[in-house]
Amino acid sequence: MPDYYDTATQLNEYLVFHYGNDASVLPWDFGPVKALGFHKRLVGWVDKSRLHTGCRALDLGCAVGRISFELVRACESVVGVDYSTTFVESAKKIKESGLVTFQLAREGNLSTSAQVRLPSDLVRERVSFCQGDAENLPVSLGKFDVIIMANLLDRVGHPRKVLSRLRDITRPGAQVIICSPFTWWDEFTEPEERLGGFIQEGKEVTSMDTVADLLEPDFHQTKIGDEPFLIRQHERKFFMSVACVGLWIRR
Ligand SMILES: C[S@@+](CC[C@H](N)C(=O)[O-])C[C@H]1O[C@@H](n2cnc3c(N)ncnc32)[C@H](O)[C@@H]1O
Repeated sequence: MPDYYDTATQLNEYLVFHYGNDASVLPWDFGPVKALGFHKRLVGWVDKSRLHTGCRALDLGCAVGRISFELVRACESVVGVDYSTTFVESAKKIKESGLVTFQLAREGNLSTSAQVRLPSDLVRERVSFCQGDAENLPVSLGKFDVIIMANLLDRVGHPRKVLSRLRDITRPGAQVIICSPFTWWDEFTEPEERLGGFIQEGKEVTSMDTVADLLEPDFHQTKIGDEPFLIRQHERKFFMSVACVGLWIRR
């Protein structure tokens, strides 16, 4: 579904998901509060002891860019790449203005306008955004010391192809953080292309097992865990997911 993320509704949902404060995303004093602040939490997976001067980071499937902006606190330069032109144009505007404007959907056509300013200590000049396909990244992107791939693998047609490029675009010692709830949909990934969620030769295969097997020749895994996240659809409806997260170091 190549243009799924190019609608005004998806754009608004992702702006709220990435930049809305806690009370905007979850305007109730009950509910899954631990699922708030996902993008910041995920960047917390970066192993700072391995970073060095001049570190380059890639946020693959960056959407409207929150992870890219958070990464600039740890890395010298950050590139955010996403297939959706709508998302990338929005991320570029946020970079230029430092401002994010969105609607907090309430019910039907009712909504409340909100605006958020990025913290002034974020050096926005060190982030760049470009439209691109994770399955066919240009060689000109260069090599990276940190790559975050958040909730991308179950939204591409050929996840194995994306994973197979990681060796070429990382330097030895680079860290790769892969995270996904592995919500496989036929519209994005044909069943035969999926990484897991099936029984093969009598054995249950999970997607993260396959990711680990495919990366093993070039990367070693140092951490595995779970991170919840929450997307507000409207004031009274939310999607909560629990992403499986792994951290790998390039051999
Ligand atoms: C589920 S969203 C996750 C966005 C963001 N990483 C996050 O966690 O909030 C999936 C993102 O992957 C992007 N995407 C899908 N297929 C892609 C591809 N082939 N190359 C690059 N980005 C892609 C979509 O446009 C969308 O922004």
